[in-house]
Amino acid sequence: MEEKRSTYYITTPIYYPSGNMTIGHTYTTVAADTMARFRKMQGYDTYFLTGTDEHGQKIEKKAAEAGVTPIEYVDQIVAATKDLWKLMDIKYDDFIRTTEERHMKIVQKIFRQFYEQGDIYKATYEGMYCTDCESFWTPTQLAEKEGVKVCPDCGRPCKPMQEESYFFRMSKYQDWLIDYIETHPEFIQPAKRANEMLTNFLRPGLQDLCVSRTSVKWGVPVDFDEKHTVYVWIDALSNYITALGYGTEQDDKFRKYWPADVHLVGKEIVRFHTIYWPIMLHALGLPLPKQVFGHGWLLFGNDKMSKSKGNVVYPQPIVARYGVDPLRYYLMREMPFGADGNYTNESFLTRMNADLANDLGNLVSRTVAMIEKYFDGIVPAWDETAEEPVGNDLRKHCAELPDLVNEQMDKLQFSQALTEIWKVIGECNKYIDLTQPWILCKDPEKKGLLGNVLRTLAECVRFAAVLIGPFMPSTPSRIFAQLGITDENLKTWDSLKNYGALTGGTRVCKGDALFPRIDVMKELEALSGKDTEKEEKKAEKAEQKQDKKTGKAEKKQDEPEYPPEIAIDDFFKCKIQVARVIACEKVEKSSKLLKFTLGLGKDGERTVVSGIQKWYAPETLVGRQVAVITNLKTAKLAGIESQGMILSAMDENGNLRLMSVEEGVEDGAIIG
Ligand code: ME8
Ligand code: MG
Repeated sequence: MEEKRSTYYITTPIYYPSGNMTIGHTYTTVAADTMARFRKMQGYDTYFLTGTDEHGQKIEKKAAEAGVTPIEYVDQIVAATKDLWKLMDIKYDDFIRTTEERHMKIVQKIFRQFYEQGDIYKATYEGMYCTDCESFWTPTQLAEKEGVKVCPDCGRPCKPMQEESYFFRMSKYQDWLIDYIETHPEFIQPAKRANEMLTNFLRPGLQDLCVSRTSVKWGVPVDFDEKHTVYVWIDALSNYITALGYGTEQDDKFRKYWPADVHLVGKEIVRFHTIYWPIMLHALGLPLPKQVFGHGWLLFGNDKMSKSKGNVVYPQPIVARYGVDPLRYYLMREMPFGADGNYTNESFLTRMNADLANDLGNLVSRTVAMIEKYFDGIVPAWDETAEEPVGNDLRKHCAELPDLVNEQMDKLQFSQALTEIWKVIGECNKYIDLTQPWILCKDPEKKGLLGNVLRTLAECVRFAAVLIGPFMPSTPSRIFAQLGITDENLKTWDSLKNYGALTGGTRVCKGDALFPRIDVMKELEALSGKDTEKEEKKAEKAEQKQDKKTGKAEKKQDEPEYPPEIAIDDFFKCKIQVARVIACEKVEKSSKLLKFTLGLGKDGERTVVSGIQKWYAPETLVGRQVAVITNLKTAKLAGIESQGMILSAMDENGNLRLMSVEEGVEDGAIIG
């Protein structure tokens, strides 16, 4: 197992805030976050940088169209971008904006140094130019549509342009770079991209690169020639070091983390990161990043998603409906890192059902349910006296799993890493079918064997929970809660060095299905828009009205009018207690009501009727602790006397979630 405890610096491209970030940008960012979390879990001192590339003509134009200044324009998009990363559970260490002073000052300094040491010279540039992509194209690069020369990237018409510019003498470093790439096979990944760079750009001879503009005002001014602004790539690429304080007095981060371990980029910008960026760094006398990984494109209907083409999928509606973890999982699982793949709602929903609801979700719920049923909810300790040979291979495989996952993560093969984890999950499910605990339980002599089977499952589930954490950050805690694992030491990477660290004796806690099965056809319809949302809202409203008429006691959807303040004594009039669900069943002939028998410890039991049938299957609630107002005047609901009210709140999707308390609180305890 990897024992290294050193630094790990990972970056995403800094994205253009010309429009809102798409699922494509989310893809790279989730990959970087997953890797950063994985290294952090392993004990590396990790630094994860992302940000935005805010200068240039396109932003200038967009802002003008919107009737705002460029900075006002990008400020909005950056705010939305940060919201999106928060929504996606992205934990970056820094977010660099190229409009920040800390960045711009150093870009000017770098540009000046290049000029002073003769790497940059002034000349006139001529060529066909695409305003949308801000790119000059050579005659051979241009595409043609209906007799018009168009941009090979976006297909829009290009026009001839001439401009006085500064140029970077790339040609000077060509042979050095060819040699570097040839002697550092790990530098450009996947390896085929290194070949592309060598054959298509380096060996035919490098063109000098245009690095300033006079026609673009929205940029970093060249401080010794104010007519010019620094043109995109010197500005953009420098972010990876300006963010660390390179070139300033406070450069401790730079000293600590540079060179980067890996720059993650989409394949279309590999060229800039493996040719221009290394040359810039070399000219500055700095070491090169250890690796540039050019991943593939997330396609939409076999076409590259792009803001300029307008065929875009955004993550927010997907997350709102299914949560973050399924989407993160899908992005990392669906296509090998490096290859292209199509995003489709159908493949997403199918994976949710197959991998998450069936494989993982069922394994967890079966394991917990069996421990509940056969061992009164207490995870059995390993019984040395009971032979259990069927699981030998599984236990061995599980013990090796962290290494197998690490091997794939070393290569940024996220999908393969998940595949390794899911192999063990699949084996566990097979193991249940093979060992047939429901038969073992009938023979008292096989109690030890049965215990060992369940212990094996619980330990494998624990391994899986730890290892999926970097991919699905909020899923492990839900699994640990069900397994009754509270010891933080059992939730770590290090704890996986020791298969069997999970000692028995803890109490499992059956919870909601981790990933409820979904109806793919229905969800496809919902995702395709078809006014579903409007209809849902309508239905919801109608239901609320209905609820009022039928005097629904629970869950008022309308906000009651609260007095601006109340005395503390008013609050203490409510007796709110922790209660355990002893029994729960549907109320006959009602589609809304559930009847609860609640245990209040020393205060005995009582019956409460609650209109939450829509959100919970009654059997899943048994054993759970809830919060109840117990001194409420009783009410008759569907002919049953309800002696209290269970507390709950609506989540952002309008789904009702029960209030719960952390572990260790006794039934009947007063909440206040
Ligand atoms: O290129 N599939 O910014 P950008 C996969 N500012 N990845 C995708 C994607 C898709 N459909 N769409 C976007 C720029 N990406 C420059 C970078 S870096 C010094 C400057 C991801 O907003 C992918 O990482 O066009 C791609 O390289 C990047 O977003 C492009 O973002
Ligand atoms: Mg782009």
